[in-house]
Amino acid sequence: MQAHAATKPVLLYFEEEQPSAERIAQAAGLALFPIERHRFPDGELKLRLPPALGPQVVLLRTLNDPNEKLVELLLAAQTARTLGAQHLTLVAPYLAYMRQDIAFQAGEAISQRVIGCFLSTLFDALITVDPHLHRVANLQEAVPVTQAIVLSGAPLLSDLIATRRQRPLLLGPDAESAQWVAVAAARHGFDHGVCQKMRHGDHAVQLELPDMAIAGRQVVLLDDVASTGQTVAQAARLLLAAGAASVDVAVTHALFAGDALQVLREAGVGEVWSTDCIAHDSNAISMASAIAAALVALLDTGINGKSGPGAQSLLS
Ligand code: R5P
Repeated sequence: MQAHAATKPVLLYFEEEQPSAERIAQAAGLALFPIERHRFPDGELKLRLPPALGPQVVLLRTLNDPNEKLVELLLAAQTARTLGAQHLTLVAPYLAYMRQDIAFQAGEAISQRVIGCFLSTLFDALITVDPHLHRVANLQEAVPVTQAIVLSGAPLLSDLIATRRQRPLLLGPDAESAQWVAVAAARHGFDHGVCQKMRHGDHAVQLELPDMAIAGRQVVLLDDVASTGQTVAQAARLLLAAGAASVDVAVTHALFAGDALQVLREAGVGEVWSTDCIAHDSNAISMASAIAAALVALLDTGINGKSGPGAQSLLS
């Protein structure tokens, strides 16, 4: 592809995220260029960016399966700077490594802090969706970039649920999910609550339902992320045992590792809805418009606007 020093901001993307990149670039009016990637026989990567870049550059990389992508970000961001980028924004609809936010046992890496600092050395700005911020006050505490924007999938998931279920009962599977459940429930006046969760291992969780009438209710479990699926599966088992008429699942980030979807089906879950922050068959909501609007606002402040829309905004 022919590349020129662009006057309008450029969105760089990797091939497998082309559909999202096209939606975002079109909605935000950005020039769009792919990053070419070559894998050498020994596993090392070579990236190729457009040979000249304008001052404002946006990189789209959602960070499921994050480890190799973090090396890509290092290579791409530092190269973009040498090619002309002065203000570099990372759009990571799913932001990895946010759940390990303390050392649960002595000696454990606090991944959120380490990865957050790493990203802040590469990028001026970050836009993400429903990051798992539990014990920190805001995104910039976890990722200390100059500009940080947090979007949420909860309102759009709520709108979808309102079209699919009559008087649903919205439940979060654990205390952390209360933030998203509260937003989604308020939007349509849904009854809501949260469960108590104890995690004993990657695939072992123990849940307790809230003290609410469950029998006959159409329950939708809402969470930021489903990984092994054990959290929502265990909630579904308890709900169906308590007489729920149906249990569906709505998540922002459809990680669904391994046989997670099968685990959900066997637990009795009906529908599974997710946003397109991570491409998955369950995607029912696009975040492209919200991301584009956030980008326009952020880039509007320009290179001199490093203190621009600023700290943290909840845009949707
Ligand atoms: C943790 O608090 C998150 O919000 C999710 O509930 C959790 O990561 C889901 O993990 P899994 O699907 O493996 O149970």
